[in-house]
Amino acid sequence: MSSLSASKPTPGITVKVDNLSITYRTTFERVPTFKKAVVRFGRGQRAVREVHALRDVSFEVADGTALGIIGNNGAGKSTLMRAISGILPPTKGRIEVNGRISPLLSLGVGFNANLSGRENIILGGLASGLSRRAVEQRAEEVTAFADLQEFIDAPMRTYSSGMYSRLAFSVAVHMDPDILMIDEALSAGDATFKSKAAAKMAELRSSARAMFLVSHSMASIQQLCTDAIWLHKGKLIMRGAPDEVIEAYTTFVDVGESAVILEDL
Ligand SMILES: Nc1ncnc2c1ncn2[C@@H]1O[C@H](COP(=O)(O)OP(=O)(O)OP(=O)(O)O)[C@@H](O)[C@H]1O
Ligand SMILES: [Mg+2]
Repeated sequence: MSSLSASKPTPGITVKVDNLSITYRTTFERVPTFKKAVVRFGRGQRAVREVHALRDVSFEVADGTALGIIGNNGAGKSTLMRAISGILPPTKGRIEVNGRISPLLSLGVGFNANLSGRENIILGGLASGLSRRAVEQRAEEVTAFADLQEFIDAPMRTYSSGMYSRLAFSVAVHMDPDILMIDEALSAGDATFKSKAAAKMAELRSSARAMFLVSHSMASIQQLCTDAIWLHKGKLIMRGAPDEVIEAYTTFVDVGESAVILEDL
């Protein structure tokens, strides 16, 4: 059992997110107008942009929960997944994690595109806490599930986005994680892979202690999750049964941003 925090784990609780805020600070050169650039010999001004990706988010996930995370683009879903995985430190608040997490699955995160698929499988496995031997033994199985035998020794930058996400999914589900985290893994896979992946997730849901699934497919959330949360502009708007949360979210999407609900945000 491992925990990101020094305090004792809460019994029965796999993940506890407490007043979590995450702010990205990006510095960039403000590009001056052409005329100004010429006059000032091209020196740009440093500008800082702050993005409040998560604002004071709190929730708990009990053992046995499959939590769906829904919300618009930029709502903070992947940020939340990265924070729970320990990749991104909280700006404020704290996160308690009891268990071993699978590598994160967002497209482009966790893999090195210049390395081969095989090398990334090894790295992914080591990152999720398995021994080198154990990972090497599992590499064939991972490759076969992703159906990438022909491509496994080619650098991942030569993969299509669907091939990339198939491998990411396959690595995550084959590392016996206590906590399975899946960020839009199914979006790029084709129909055949999607149904195979859904079956695999349903199977793993019973063995993993908890599962987190970020998806824009309400059908996947409905089929695979026991609970759901809705994030909007970094805030936790709602937590409840998948049907309830999906209904509230889709109503909001239909009505649009002018809806009364936003007055409370
Ligand atoms: N590395 C980063 N640096 C700066 N800002 C970032 C970074 N990653 C995300 N953001 C910003 O944080 C906010 C939340 O992004 P996030 O990727 O968590 O959204 P999301 O809910 O996963 O969206 P999507 O549905 O498009 O995947 C966005 O405004 C985004 O621009
Ligand atoms: Mg995302």
